[in-house]
Amino acid sequence: MAVTAGTSLLIGAWWAMRRTLRILLDNWAQATQPFGMQLDTGFVRAQFPAFAEPALRDLAFFENAGGSYACRYVVWRLSRFYKERKVQPYGPFPVSDLAGSEMDEARERLARMLGVWAEEVSFGPSTTANTYVLAQAFRQWLPEASEGRPAIIVTNQDHEANTGPWRRLADAGIEVREWRMRDDGHLDIEDLEPLLDGAQLLAFPHASNVVGEINDVARICRLAQRYGVFTCVDGVSYAPHGLPNVRKLGCDIYLFSAYKTYGPHQGIMTIRRELGMALPNQGHEFNGANLWQRFTPAGPDHAQVAACAGLPDYVDALYKHHMRAGRDGTGRAEVIHDMMRARERDLTAPLLDMIEERGLRLLGPATVDRAPTLALDLGPHAWSVAQRLAEHGVMAGAGDFYAGRALSALGIEPEEGVLRLSFTHYTSDDEVDRLIGALNRVL
Ligand SMILES: Cc1ncc(COP(=O)(O)O)c(C=O)c1O
Repeated sequence: MAVTAGTSLLIGAWWAMRRTLRILLDNWAQATQPFGMQLDTGFVRAQFPAFAEPALRDLAFFENAGGSYACRYVVWRLSRFYKERKVQPYGPFPVSDLAGSEMDEARERLARMLGVWAEEVSFGPSTTANTYVLAQAFRQWLPEASEGRPAIIVTNQDHEANTGPWRRLADAGIEVREWRMRDDGHLDIEDLEPLLDGAQLLAFPHASNVVGEINDVARICRLAQRYGVFTCVDGVSYAPHGLPNVRKLGCDIYLFSAYKTYGPHQGIMTIRRELGMALPNQGHEFNGANLWQRFTPAGPDHAQVAACAGLPDYVDALYKHHMRAGRDGTGRAEVIHDMMRARERDLTAPLLDMIEERGLRLLGPATVDRAPTLALDLGPHAWSVAQRLAEHGVMAGAGDFYAGRALSALGIEPEEGVLRLSFTHYTSDDEVDRLIGALNRVL
């Protein structure tokens, strides 16, 4: 009896100790939040083979919004798939089984980081293709699902991918309403509200690829939801700056492109289960019960899908390097998101100062809270300035970036375009200095 009492005392003490340890660990994990902790740029850059490539080493890369460098996990997974698993996946032999499970792993781990269910994530050849397929589903569905004439809302701030396919629904008798930017490129929520009544879908960008303002997705979605309007968010120009928690944002559809987010050339899409199952299946008829196959009529690129698991690998590696303890997929992604954004703000500040000093016209807000995608109106000189920057070892973009509607609305000829300077958390201070030096020489 005495032994039993002693044993239960010991067990009680053990559990109390475990509980205290857990609380201490949790507190420590909280305490090691990114407040004041800076991204280790040396470690970050070591995760990208491109920075060590002799052919690229002396070039400062400022066209990230067009496509980022790929992280080493993606490169390694892609190459492993091509070398060791390049067979039809999901078959009865072990290599095939491995190929399929790596594809599933990519979907499951991305879902955990994005805060959605695995079945809600699907891959397609690009965001343009994913949006196009979605628009076909809505074209079929809206007329039968709506009382009266269906209506959708698009913006003039979007890349063509998230506006053109929706606008074409007018051919099917669907009313298309436009949520227009103000003169400074801002999409004001006050202008949205009158458009919502009687609409079924709102398509808008998380951040525009030329205006760079980060739209308040959560607030916009809450408002849309009050009117029973579904939301489709183009996150292509946002996701590279930190994977969002899609569930917290509250949108029904979120799209982004892996090739601009350190990955292979894939479009990634999340769609809320209820909506995805209500929309007509666009894939093979016999796959209709699988949400992740309903909007991917193109056969998937197996290797690239599998290589997308390299994105969560990268977030995990950053997390472990900086934090070491605790948290699950979404929690890790949120911490790394905040660290990336903090780093990008620091990098943006000197560029904004220089733009102001030189009196250049920047599209969108001149604050560090914007996306680090800075488009400058240089009249007819955008292209020639980009060429001259290249002579100084700076790779920047020029053109309309498929955002002709946004440029026109801001008084810029799409044919002339803008000079776009886009970077991410992996950009170094030295590269920003080089960019500023080069701009000062060529402008
Ligand atoms: C904001 C934005 N949306 C959508 C797209 C289209 O993405 P994808 O090239 O994957 O079709 C782009 C591409 O540049 C973009 O910048």
